[in-house]
Amino acid sequence: MELLTARQRLLSARRVAVLTGAGISKASGIPTFRDAEGLWKDFNPLEYATPEAYARDPEKVWNWYAWRYRKAVEAEPNPAHRRLVELEARVGEGFLLVTQNVDGLHARAGSGRLVELHGNITRARCERCQKRFPLPPPEAFNPPPTCPACGGRARPDVVWFGELLPPGAFERAERAFVQAEVALVIGTSAEVEPAASLGRIAHLSGAYLIEINPTPTPLTRLADCALPLGAVEGMEALLGGDAPPLVEDPGGKP
Ligand code: APR
Repeated sequence: MELLTARQRLLSARRVAVLTGAGISKASGIPTFRDAEGLWKDFNPLEYATPEAYARDPEKVWNWYAWRYRKAVEAEPNPAHRRLVELEARVGEGFLLVTQNVDGLHARAGSGRLVELHGNITRARCERCQKRFPLPPPEAFNPPPTCPACGGRARPDVVWFGELLPPGAFERAERAFVQAEVALVIGTSAEVEPAASLGRIAHLSGAYLIEINPTPTPLTRLADCALPLGAVEGMEALLGGDAPPLVEDPGGKP
Protein backbone atom coordinates (compact mmCIF):
# COMPACT_ATOMS: atom_id res chain seq x y z
CA MET A 1 0.00 0.00 0.00
CA GLU A 2 1.72 3.14 -1.27
CA LEU A 3 0.48 5.42 1.49
CA LEU A 4 1.75 3.14 4.24
CA THR A 5 5.12 2.82 2.50
CA ALA A 6 5.29 6.59 2.02
CA ARG A 7 4.47 7.16 5.70
CA GLN A 8 7.06 4.64 6.84
CA ARG A 9 9.71 6.07 4.53
CA LEU A 10 8.95 9.63 5.64
CA LEU A 11 8.93 8.86 9.34
CA SER A 12 12.13 6.81 9.26
CA ALA A 13 14.14 9.18 7.03
CA ARG A 14 17.05 11.12 8.52
CA ARG A 15 17.22 13.52 5.55
CA VAL A 16 13.95 15.00 4.30
CA ALA A 17 13.61 17.81 1.74
CA VAL A 18 10.25 19.50 1.23
CA LEU A 19 9.18 21.87 -1.57
CA THR A 20 5.95 23.81 -1.26
CA GLY A 21 3.99 25.99 -3.65
CA ALA A 22 0.91 28.14 -3.50
CA GLY A 23 -1.36 25.12 -3.05
CA ILE A 24 -0.31 24.66 0.58
CA SER A 25 -1.62 28.12 1.47
CA LYS A 26 -4.94 27.73 -0.32
CA ALA A 27 -6.60 26.41 2.83
CA SER A 28 -5.45 29.64 4.53
CA GLY A 29 -7.35 31.71 1.97
CA ILE A 30 -4.32 32.71 -0.13
CA PRO A 31 -5.01 32.33 -3.88
CA THR A 32 -2.79 30.20 -6.10
CA PHE A 33 -1.51 31.49 -9.44
CA ARG A 34 -2.39 29.00 -12.18
CA ASP A 35 -5.55 27.35 -10.89
CA ALA A 36 -8.88 28.15 -12.54
CA GLU A 37 -9.40 30.87 -9.93
CA GLY A 38 -5.71 31.72 -9.60
CA LEU A 39 -4.18 35.19 -9.54
CA TRP A 40 -2.83 35.03 -13.08
CA LYS A 41 -6.39 34.67 -14.38
CA ASP A 42 -7.21 38.23 -13.27
CA PHE A 43 -3.73 39.78 -13.19
CA ASN A 44 -1.21 39.64 -16.03
CA PRO A 45 2.14 38.71 -14.42
CA LEU A 46 3.88 40.89 -17.01
CA GLU A 47 2.10 43.91 -15.55
CA TYR A 48 2.68 43.09 -11.87
CA ALA A 49 5.56 40.66 -11.34
CA THR A 50 8.52 41.79 -13.46
CA PRO A 51 11.18 44.47 -12.92
CA GLU A 52 10.00 46.11 -16.14
CA ALA A 53 6.43 46.37 -14.81
CA TYR A 54 7.73 47.98 -11.63
CA ALA A 55 9.93 50.44 -13.54
CA ARG A 56 6.96 51.31 -15.76
CA ASP A 57 4.41 51.83 -12.96
CA PRO A 58 5.75 51.35 -9.41
CA GLU A 59 2.54 52.60 -7.82
CA LYS A 60 0.40 49.99 -9.66
CA VAL A 61 2.79 47.20 -8.67
CA TRP A 62 3.03 48.37 -5.07
CA ASN A 63 -0.76 48.63 -4.75
CA TRP A 64 -1.07 45.02 -5.91
CA TYR A 65 1.59 43.82 -3.50
CA ALA A 66 0.05 45.86 -0.67
CA TRP A 67 -3.22 44.02 -1.32
CA ARG A 68 -1.46 40.62 -1.32
CA TYR A 69 0.50 41.66 1.79
CA ARG A 70 -2.73 42.48 3.62
CA LYS A 71 -4.20 39.05 2.63
CA ALA A 72 -1.05 37.30 3.81
CA VAL A 73 -1.05 39.04 7.21
CA GLU A 74 -4.79 38.38 7.68
CA ALA A 75 -4.29 34.68 6.83
CA GLU A 76 -3.35 32.06 9.38
CA PRO A 77 -1.07 29.03 8.92
CA ASN A 78 -3.18 25.91 8.34
CA PRO A 79 -2.74 22.30 9.59
CA ALA A 80 -0.50 21.47 6.61
CA HIS A 81 1.95 24.23 7.60
CA ARG A 82 1.85 22.98 11.17
CA ARG A 83 2.44 19.32 10.19
CA LEU A 84 5.63 20.45 8.46
CA VAL A 85 6.78 22.11 11.68
CA GLU A 86 6.19 18.80 13.49
CA LEU A 87 8.09 16.91 10.79
CA GLU A 88 11.01 19.36 11.09
CA ALA A 89 11.12 18.78 14.86
CA ARG A 90 11.11 15.01 14.30
CA VAL A 91 13.80 14.91 11.60
CA GLY A 92 16.03 17.66 13.03
CA GLU A 93 19.10 18.90 11.18
CA GLY A 94 18.51 16.65 8.18
CA PHE A 95 15.30 18.55 7.37
CA LEU A 96 14.91 21.45 4.97
CA LEU A 97 11.73 23.17 3.83
CA VAL A 98 12.05 25.08 0.54
CA THR A 99 9.11 27.25 -0.37
CA GLN A 100 8.19 29.22 -3.47
CA ASN A 101 5.58 31.06 -1.42
CA VAL A 102 6.13 34.65 -0.34
CA ASP A 103 3.23 34.74 2.15
CA GLY A 104 5.42 34.09 5.18
CA LEU A 105 3.02 31.44 6.55
CA HIS A 106 5.70 28.76 7.01
CA ALA A 107 7.75 31.10 9.19
CA ARG A 108 4.66 32.11 11.17
CA ALA A 109 3.77 28.43 11.68
CA GLY A 110 7.22 27.96 13.26
CA SER A 111 9.30 26.44 10.43
CA GLY A 112 12.96 27.26 11.09
CA ARG A 113 14.94 25.19 8.60
CA LEU A 114 13.38 27.18 5.79
CA VAL A 115 14.46 28.64 2.44
CA GLU A 116 12.14 31.23 0.87
CA LEU A 117 13.25 30.89 -2.76
CA HIS A 118 11.06 33.74 -4.01
CA GLY A 119 11.42 36.14 -1.10
CA ASN A 120 8.82 37.35 1.36
CA ILE A 121 5.93 39.74 0.76
CA THR A 122 6.08 41.10 4.33
CA ARG A 123 9.47 42.72 3.62
CA ALA A 124 10.75 45.47 1.33
CA ARG A 125 14.21 45.97 -0.15
CA CYS A 126 15.77 49.40 -0.72
CA GLU A 127 16.47 50.06 -4.40
CA ARG A 128 19.46 52.21 -3.44
CA CYS A 129 21.30 50.46 -0.55
CA GLN A 130 19.58 47.03 -0.82
CA LYS A 131 18.71 47.04 2.90
CA ARG A 132 15.81 44.64 3.70
CA PHE A 133 13.27 45.66 6.29
CA PRO A 134 9.81 44.57 7.44
CA LEU A 135 6.79 46.44 6.11
CA PRO A 136 4.69 48.34 8.66
CA PRO A 137 1.38 46.71 9.68
CA PRO A 138 -1.07 46.76 6.74
CA GLU A 139 -3.29 49.34 8.41
CA ALA A 140 -0.35 51.75 8.68
CA PHE A 141 1.20 50.95 5.29
CA ASN A 142 1.16 53.52 2.49
CA PRO A 143 3.27 52.29 -0.40
CA PRO A 144 5.92 52.88 -1.58
CA PRO A 145 7.93 52.40 1.63
CA THR A 146 11.13 54.38 2.09
CA CYS A 147 14.33 52.83 3.35
CA PRO A 148 14.88 53.49 7.09
CA ALA A 149 18.63 53.55 6.48
CA CYS A 150 19.06 55.83 3.45
CA GLY A 151 15.60 57.18 2.67
CA GLY A 152 15.63 55.58 -0.77
CA ARG A 153 12.50 54.07 -2.34
CA ALA A 154 12.04 50.38 -1.55
CA ARG A 155 10.49 47.59 -3.64
CA PRO A 156 8.76 44.37 -2.58
CA ASP A 157 11.38 41.87 -1.36
CA VAL A 158 10.20 39.18 -3.75
CA VAL A 159 11.78 37.58 -6.83
CA TRP A 160 10.10 38.73 -10.04
CA PHE A 161 10.09 36.84 -13.31
CA GLY A 162 13.49 37.19 -14.96
CA GLU A 163 15.28 37.97 -11.68
CA LEU A 164 17.89 35.92 -9.85
CA LEU A 165 17.00 34.04 -6.67
CA PRO A 166 18.47 35.24 -3.38
CA PRO A 167 22.23 34.45 -3.32
CA GLY A 168 22.87 30.88 -2.17
CA ALA A 169 19.20 30.01 -1.79
CA PHE A 170 18.95 27.57 -4.69
CA GLU A 171 22.34 26.02 -3.94
CA ARG A 172 21.19 25.25 -0.39
CA ALA A 173 17.90 23.88 -1.67
CA GLU A 174 19.52 21.76 -4.39
CA ARG A 175 22.00 20.24 -1.90
CA ALA A 176 19.10 19.17 0.33
CA PHE A 177 17.22 17.53 -2.55
CA VAL A 178 20.33 15.75 -3.82
CA GLN A 179 21.01 14.32 -0.36
CA ALA A 180 17.40 13.62 0.64
CA GLU A 181 16.24 10.10 1.47
CA VAL A 182 12.68 11.37 1.05
CA ALA A 183 11.53 14.38 -0.96
CA LEU A 184 8.03 15.75 -0.37
CA VAL A 185 6.54 18.16 -2.93
CA ILE A 186 3.29 19.87 -1.93
CA GLY A 187 0.97 22.17 -3.85
CA THR A 188 3.09 23.30 -6.77
CA SER A 189 2.36 23.12 -10.50
CA ALA A 190 6.08 22.36 -10.94
CA GLU A 191 6.17 24.76 -13.89
CA VAL A 192 8.53 27.50 -12.69
CA GLU A 193 12.29 26.86 -12.80
CA PRO A 194 14.56 26.42 -11.06
CA ALA A 195 12.25 25.37 -8.21
CA ALA A 196 10.46 22.89 -10.46
CA SER A 197 13.71 20.96 -10.98
CA LEU A 198 14.11 20.08 -7.28
CA GLY A 199 11.66 17.17 -7.34
CA ARG A 200 13.32 15.73 -10.45
CA ILE A 201 16.78 16.17 -8.88
CA ALA A 202 15.71 14.24 -5.80
CA HIS A 203 14.18 11.47 -7.92
CA LEU A 204 17.32 11.17 -10.05
CA SER A 205 19.42 11.12 -6.88
CA GLY A 206 17.51 8.10 -5.60
CA ALA A 207 15.17 9.76 -3.11
CA TYR A 208 11.72 8.38 -2.40
CA LEU A 209 9.49 11.07 -3.94
CA ILE A 210 6.08 11.94 -2.50
CA GLU A 211 3.79 14.48 -4.19
CA ILE A 212 0.63 15.98 -2.68
CA ASN A 213 -1.49 17.77 -5.27
CA PRO A 214 -5.16 17.35 -6.25
CA THR A 215 -4.22 17.61 -9.94
CA PRO A 216 -1.41 15.90 -11.89
CA THR A 217 1.80 17.84 -12.59
CA PRO A 218 4.96 17.07 -14.64
CA LEU A 219 6.31 15.54 -11.42
CA THR A 220 3.47 13.11 -10.84
CA ARG A 221 4.82 10.41 -13.16
CA LEU A 222 8.14 10.43 -11.27
CA ALA A 223 6.58 10.21 -7.81
CA ASP A 224 6.88 6.98 -5.80
CA CYS A 225 3.69 8.06 -4.06
CA ALA A 226 1.38 10.68 -5.62
CA LEU A 227 -1.48 11.66 -3.29
CA PRO A 228 -4.29 13.34 -5.33
CA LEU A 229 -5.32 15.32 -2.26
CA GLY A 230 -5.24 18.85 -0.91
CA ALA A 231 -2.28 19.77 1.27
CA VAL A 232 -4.19 19.52 4.56
CA GLU A 233 -5.78 16.17 3.70
CA GLY A 234 -2.53 14.83 2.24
CA MET A 235 -0.44 15.77 5.27
CA GLU A 236 -3.07 14.25 7.57
CA ALA A 237 -3.01 11.04 5.51
CA LEU A 238 0.79 10.94 5.76
CA LEU A 239 1.31 12.12 9.31
CA GLY A 240 -2.07 12.38 10.94
CA GLY A 241 -3.34 10.26 13.80
CA ASP A 242 -5.82 8.34 11.70
CA ALA A 243 -3.15 7.05 9.35
CA PRO A 244 -2.36 3.35 9.67
CA PRO A 245 0.15 2.51 12.44
CA LEU A 246 3.76 2.68 11.40
CA VAL A 247 4.40 -1.02 11.84
CA GLU A 248 1.89 -3.80 12.33
CA ASP A 249 1.61 -4.77 16.01
CA PRO A 250 4.59 -7.15 16.36
CA GLY A 251 2.59 -9.28 18.82
CA GLY A 252 -0.27 -9.45 16.35
CA LYS A 253 -3.85 -9.00 17.48
CA PRO A 254 -5.47 -12.15 18.92
N1 APR B 1 -3.60 21.66 -1.74
C1 APR B 1 -2.49 21.38 -2.45
N2 APR B 1 -2.29 21.78 -3.72
C2 APR B 1 -3.28 22.49 -4.28
C3 APR B 1 -4.47 22.82 -3.63
C4 APR B 1 -4.61 22.37 -2.29
N3 APR B 1 -5.72 22.64 -1.57
N4 APR B 1 -5.25 23.55 -4.47
C5 APR B 1 -4.55 23.66 -5.62
N5 APR B 1 -3.38 23.03 -5.52
C6 APR B 1 -2.31 22.90 -6.50
C7 APR B 1 -2.72 23.10 -7.93
O1 APR B 1 -3.17 21.89 -8.49
C8 APR B 1 -1.39 23.56 -8.56
O2 APR B 1 -0.66 22.45 -9.04
O3 APR B 1 -1.38 23.92 -6.22
C9 APR B 1 -0.64 24.21 -7.41
C10 APR B 1 -0.51 25.70 -7.52
O4 APR B 1 0.26 25.96 -8.68
P1 APR B 1 0.64 27.48 -9.03
O5 APR B 1 -0.58 28.31 -8.89
O6 APR B 1 1.37 27.44 -10.32
O7 APR B 1 1.60 27.93 -7.84
P2 APR B 1 3.13 27.58 -7.69
O8 APR B 1 3.45 26.23 -8.24
O9 APR B 1 3.50 27.83 -6.28
O10 APR B 1 3.83 28.70 -8.62
C11 APR B 1 5.23 28.76 -8.60
O11 APR B 1 5.12 30.75 -9.99
O12 APR B 1 3.94 32.67 -10.42
C12 APR B 1 5.11 32.18 -9.87
O13 APR B 1 6.42 33.12 -8.17
C13 APR B 1 5.20 32.51 -8.39
O14 APR B 1 6.03 31.15 -6.58
C14 APR B 1 5.16 31.15 -7.70
C15 APR B 1 5.65 30.20 -8.79
